[in-house]
Amino acid sequence: MDHFQYRSGEMVAEAVPLTRIADDIGTPFYCYSAATLERHYQVFTDAMTGLDACVCYAVKANSNIAVIATLARLGAGADVVSAGEMRRALVAGVPASNILFSGVGKTADELAQALKAGVLQINVESAPELETLSGVAESLGLEAKVAIRVNPDVDALTHEKIATGKSENKFGVDWGEVPGVYARAADLPGIRITGVAVHIGSQILDLEPYRQAYGKVVDLVGRLRAEGHAIEHLDLGGGLGIPYEEEQPPSPEEYGAMVREVVGDLDCKVFFEPGRLIAGNAGILVTRVVRVKEGTSRSFVIVDAAMNDLVRPTLYNAHHAIVPVLEAPDGVQHAEAEVVGPICETGDTFGKPRMLPKTAEGDLLAIRTAGAYGAVMASAYNTRPLIPEVLVSGEEYAVIRDRITVDDMLSRESLPGWLEDG
Ligand code: LLP
Repeated sequence: MDHFQYRSGEMVAEAVPLTRIADDIGTPFYCYSAATLERHYQVFTDAMTGLDACVCYAVKANSNIAVIATLARLGAGADVVSAGEMRRALVAGVPASNILFSGVGKTADELAQALKAGVLQINVESAPELETLSGVAESLGLEAKVAIRVNPDVDALTHEKIATGKSENKFGVDWGEVPGVYARAADLPGIRITGVAVHIGSQILDLEPYRQAYGKVVDLVGRLRAEGHAIEHLDLGGGLGIPYEEEQPPSPEEYGAMVREVVGDLDCKVFFEPGRLIAGNAGILVTRVVRVKEGTSRSFVIVDAAMNDLVRPTLYNAHHAIVPVLEAPDGVQHAEAEVVGPICETGDTFGKPRMLPKTAEGDLLAIRTAGAYGAVMASAYNTRPLIPEVLVSGEEYAVIRDRITVDDMLSRESLPGWLEDG
């Protein structure tokens, strides 16, 4: 459920009409609903009742500091994958003691920043990373609290670009090597083992892969404890899918029940890293129709947003529902059209042709379910500067990131001496 609904014939975000925001700040823009973010966090957290659970929002899904702060106020921790994301989480008010640091390519400098900040846990993804972390921790005179992220070699049955739990994926320590890496961790200075971490992919629509992966982790915890390691934390990752079209993902309650069943007896504190589930349906991309072009084989609705603003359709063939901001009157004729951006690539499309009510230049469209992996994956391709983000709460809205201008972009570039006019 989200808070983008039609009211008196036009779409509102909570109680704010999107036309008002568009008139005030121009298009395109991302619009997020605070109530939806809060609701999703609450539903997920409630579903974990009975577990000693900590929900660490995966900041990568939507890292605007206002979004993180909205969740931090409810007690959310953060899962971060770069020093930059860690800075955002800290600035947004997440205490370092609630921050998990994941990622396959953390640099020594990032590890040092995480240690100095005093993060809750560093999820180490390889034997060489462990050696680097030990060296960094020793040189700083600090102790790193560490979980090894394990690769359970389980197929998450999701898009190949976002599956992370198979042995051919770059993530985590290969299953067969895990006991050896724990043994090494126990010997290394500056390292304190706190737990085990696993994350098998994103937009997962079936509980079975989770059940398999978590089942393997439970066996592993038994073995590691028998070998003398103190495993107190279980980080079960994120990845629970959401409906973009017709998908029927498991509910957080069903997921929670499965987790209780599989890991409930382990006597561990359990961490979750949901991103998409919290932010996905809490955001839309609002765009204006630049012109309608009747091609010989199809009609194109050319809008002012493009693949640089929302790359998911281009990158993953992802489906995002597209609806008019002004509700089409009952019985109005619909026709097939492809909604495309102005960028000079055929891949700059918001998906296959759709049935849309008759659309004209100047109309506003909302591209739904764009709150996760939308703004964060944007680029400035074609010198199209990053677009603003807006957060709505009830009858209020605030611009939480300004529109970048072409001047801003150009101000960071310069001519080398040999090209300057002599
Ligand atoms: N934890 C780790 C270690 C992750 O790598 C990810 C996502 C998450 C948690 C959060 O997963 P979520 O709950 O959001 O599924 N750009 C892609 C998704 C990439 C996901 C990367 N890792 C997309 O637009 O579909």
